[in-house]
Amino acid sequence: MMTTSSAHDGSHSLLRVWLCFTLLLCFRSCAASPRDLRFSAEDIAAVEAVLPSLRQAKTTFFEVDRPLRPPRGSSGPCSTLLLSHVFASTFNKPPVIAAYSPPSCLDDAGGGALIVSLAVLEWRADCHGAQYDRIFGVWLGGAELLRGSTAEPRPEGVTWTVNKDVTKYASLLAAGNSTLAVYLGNLIDDTYDGVYNTNLTLHLYFRRATRSPPPSSAPADRVVPVSRSLPLNDGLWFVVDNTTEVESTRLTVPPNAHRAVLEVYVSSHDFDEFWYMNMPDQNGPFREVTIHLDGKVVGAVWPFPVIYTGGINPLIWRPITSIGSFNMPTYDVELTPFLGKLLDGKEHELGFAVTNAQKSWYVDANLHLWLDPKSSATSGGLVAYNAPKLTGSIVSKSSDSIDGEYDATASRNISATGWVSSARRAATSQPHSPRGSPSCTRTW
Ligand SMILES: *[C@@H]1O[C@H](CO)[C@@H](O)[C@H](O)[C@H]1NC(C)=O
Ligand SMILES: *[C@@H]1O[C@H](CO)[C@@H](O)[C@H](O)[C@H]1NC(C)=O
Ligand SMILES: *[C@@H]1O[C@H](CO)[C@@H](O)[C@H](O)[C@H]1NC(C)=O
Ligand SMILES: *[C@@H]1O[C@H](CO)[C@@H](O)[C@H](O)[C@H]1NC(C)=O
Repeated sequence: MMTTSSAHDGSHSLLRVWLCFTLLLCFRSCAASPRDLRFSAEDIAAVEAVLPSLRQAKTTFFEVDRPLRPPRGSSGPCSTLLLSHVFASTFNKPPVIAAYSPPSCLDDAGGGALIVSLAVLEWRADCHGAQYDRIFGVWLGGAELLRGSTAEPRPEGVTWTVNKDVTKYASLLAAGNSTLAVYLGNLIDDTYDGVYNTNLTLHLYFRRATRSPPPSSAPADRVVPVSRSLPLNDGLWFVVDNTTEVESTRLTVPPNAHRAVLEVYVSSHDFDEFWYMNMPDQNGPFREVTIHLDGKVVGAVWPFPVIYTGGINPLIWRPITSIGSFNMPTYDVELTPFLGKLLDGKEHELGFAVTNAQKSWYVDANLHLWLDPKSSATSGGLVAYNAPKLTGSIVSKSSDSIDGEYDATASRNISATGWVSSARRAATSQPHSPRGSPSCTRTW
């Protein structure tokens, strides 16, 4: 399978219409500083005061999402409270941690008769008073499971729940004891007094295991975190503050991997929270996260612009919040063509940069690896790899930095073709099978 990414032309006109809309809004509210598209608690309180129809008990906020249902014939759920915590003054403090042990229902199923058919991570929280929306992340053994923005509270209180399908992390959930870490950077002062009461629960559903080989959609056998290690006074994400910075870590890959997919988590903050409407002097409106393997660009992610609950005008995002705000999208980058390089048992450097970045981008990832159960070693090779430099430009049509007009373009193409071969060792009952000859070769 070719891994190819390039400019998505169709989205440009939509984005343009939307930019006009948001910029118009901005001119009314935030005159000279388009990057600071936020209302203060006092502004919001003033609006709340003249909207009597909104003055009611706790509001339930929600993001429109597909409901999660276990496959037919599943049993469960078996539910386990993983963490219960009140996030008050937590900004620049260590993440809240809890010891994680696989729930006993998972151990009981470990005999092989049952497998997880659906795993759901439930984040349930409430808050009242005044507070900004805050970013949070949940990590298990260093692998990120969930990233979201909190709901920006109302004086009478808000509550919201996120149910995320975490079945793809089944191997992590079953792997044994590890550490659950939750970072939610909240600040409390005389004005902003809202604390976030949070419960994190894991719901597991099971189905009978079959003898047939797992479908290609089966969860990875191993999930390797590509994040910062505890202890730290922040989330486990890397923080990228400018366009030249590359943040990386070193990892090894099991010798019998036959498929590798990097799942990237990303969120933009501070000067780049609204990067898609930045002016030329703010590095323009184009950003991408590039994936670096041993110094080479092997993939790129063009993130969807997620507007947090306090973004632009918080009144737009209640009670239905914007797409991805409570459960941020992640991006899969196929790294299988590069397995030939990774299967040598040595450490490799995997890193991230953000093209045109201003302060701050929070980026980390999980490397999902599928292993060959019938072989202790696979091999692979890269057949073709082409990653020319990004092209594009910003052309200003007016010099006025507020009411200006400019065109920004960007184009990126990364392609890689490789093969992976599984040298299935002959079973003792088949002594004539050629040893070590490739019996299964897949080409990407
Ligand atoms: C969290 O769980 C505790 C104990 O069951 C409960 O008292 C509290 O209301 C829950 N909080 C939320 C936000 O669901
Ligand atoms: C895992 O943690 C549980 C609960 O703390 C403990 O009882 C158990 O002995 C631990 N298992 C291992 C293998 O460390
Ligand atoms: C980019 O950020 C890195 C890490 O903070 C810093 O070392 C470097 O000097 C910065 N580069 C520029 C051009 O600001
Ligand atoms: C991307 O690169 C590949 C390989 O070099 C090439 O075949 C393909 O046509 C390119 N696609 C675009 C859109 O430029």
